[in-house]
Amino acid sequence: MIQLAEPVPSTTETWLDGLADGLTEHGWMTLDATPVLGRPLIQQLRDEVRILDRTDALRRAGVGRGADLTRDRSVRRDKIAWLQGHTGPQQALFGVLDALRAGLNQRLFLGLKRFETHYATYHAGDFYKRHLDSFRGRASRVVSLVLYLNDDWQPLDGGELQVFNRDSEHEVCGLVPPEAGRMVLFMSEEIPHEVLPAHRTRYSLACWFRQDEVPLPL
Ligand code: OGA
Ligand code: MN
Repeated sequence: MIQLAEPVPSTTETWLDGLADGLTEHGWMTLDATPVLGRPLIQQLRDEVRILDRTDALRRAGVGRGADLTRDRSVRRDKIAWLQGHTGPQQALFGVLDALRAGLNQRLFLGLKRFETHYATYHAGDFYKRHLDSFRGRASRVVSLVLYLNDDWQPLDGGELQVFNRDSEHEVCGLVPPEAGRMVLFMSEEIPHEVLPAHRTRYSLACWFRQDEVPLPL
């Protein structure tokens, strides 16, 4: 049994039960994370990514890693910055993400050892074509999480996350607007997904829970 460093409140336990059930039954799940994270933390994270964006501190995202890394603008157009966990809001977030990691391990026996997380900005016109986050057998990225940070997101703003069915991969089974506090979790190797073109700046935070222990060079 994995012990959490600190006991988590029972609301978080119920929240984790719902998450684990959704991941088991459908391979993905969306929910409002505001009750667990709190609105102030979501706003602080949004302010951080906005400052990174305005100060040109974000990098064009690639597909693949290391020598396989390509920056193909026909596949994805977002810009990212990896979180190091050095600021107050990032430390608070990392505490929740680690409780989530341990909670998923307790419920689903996934053996998740660590997580990595980056901010992402999609400017108007940016998208990320249909893809999987991980390929089977690499024991790397197992569960993906995305947290959205946009206040007042309207249907005309686009930028939804389109989620495909894991068993019939051309069937859309979810369309998630990137509104502040909304969180999506899915099995990285199973669920194809796509970010539809955004029509205004779209801020988010993506996180991957991994089964391997040693961080790879980013
Ligand atoms: C990703 C991704 C989804 C989103 O970064 O791999 O699929 O909604 N992001 O931002
Ligand atoms: Mn993805």
